[in-house]
Amino acid sequence: MAFKHKDLLSLRDVEREEIEMILSTAASMRQLLDSPTKKTAHLQGKSIVTLFYENSTRTRMSFELASKYMSAAAANISASASSVQKGETLLDTGRTLDRMGTDVIIIRHPMSGAPHLLAQHVNAAVINAGDGINEHPTQALLDMFTIKRHKGRLDGLKVAIVGDVLHSRVARSNIFGLHTMGAEVALCAPPTLMPAQMEELGVKTYTRVEEAVEGADVVMGLRIQKERQEEGNFPSLREYSEFFGINEERMKYAKPDALIMHPGPINRGVEITSDAADCEQSVINEQVTSGVAVRMALLYLLTRKGVQSV
Ligand code: CP
Repeated sequence: MAFKHKDLLSLRDVEREEIEMILSTAASMRQLLDSPTKKTAHLQGKSIVTLFYENSTRTRMSFELASKYMSAAAANISASASSVQKGETLLDTGRTLDRMGTDVIIIRHPMSGAPHLLAQHVNAAVINAGDGINEHPTQALLDMFTIKRHKGRLDGLKVAIVGDVLHSRVARSNIFGLHTMGAEVALCAPPTLMPAQMEELGVKTYTRVEEAVEGADVVMGLRIQKERQEEGNFPSLREYSEFFGINEERMKYAKPDALIMHPGPINRGVEITSDAADCEQSVINEQVTSGVAVRMALLYLLTRKGVQSV
């Protein structure tokens, strides 16, 4: 079975069988990462470009390493050091990369929908590495991969997502992906950081962390975007931490073997205490390794013949 899509822009319409294919391909890639050489020729002759209009450590580096481990020609463009600074539009930048024979463009952009627009105008496969407050599909895939490695399944699990849901593209992609895979999602945030009508997506919403994490198999923290505090969404970081921070006390409400996750970067002592982030139940560091495996799998699947966008 081949992956049928040209691009990966969202998890909203990715079917269960396709997610399973990505996760099983990633499992093979994870084995390769554990081998001494880490090198395959799967992407020999392919060229991969990361085009980032926002900062990143994990996503950008894992795509670059994934490309190199698979023998692709890999290049990076930071908007701050490119002709974007001279006024070049996103589409002109994309067409320029296309004319250089780029096979995959991985884009992060502050505007929701920018990867979708780009995908309509280039021949290259486009991967959304985070667009505004919309989606971050590869993060959700690596999260699901990490959960499945520990729990053996996704079906029937309860995943509690705690934090700034309003501005979180990670939460949105996880809601779509986890639902497709049969997991239950509970969201917890201060009322000012919870979008309206989230129940319509089939999730339960809470304002008390203890209720949200009750019986959870996974507790996932979200980064508090400190810049948002100026918008007046919560009074102070200290207060946020007191009422919504993930800590060992609150984890007692989850299952005893519940996983602690966070997409990173972490604000230690704000959305999660160091005790919780570094404890045995935490798989935060493992998520980073999963990120390389999942992105290797996606690059492999998307550079085979595809026909439509997701
Ligand atoms: N989780 C995540 O997207 O991290 P970066 O911003 O470092 O890529």
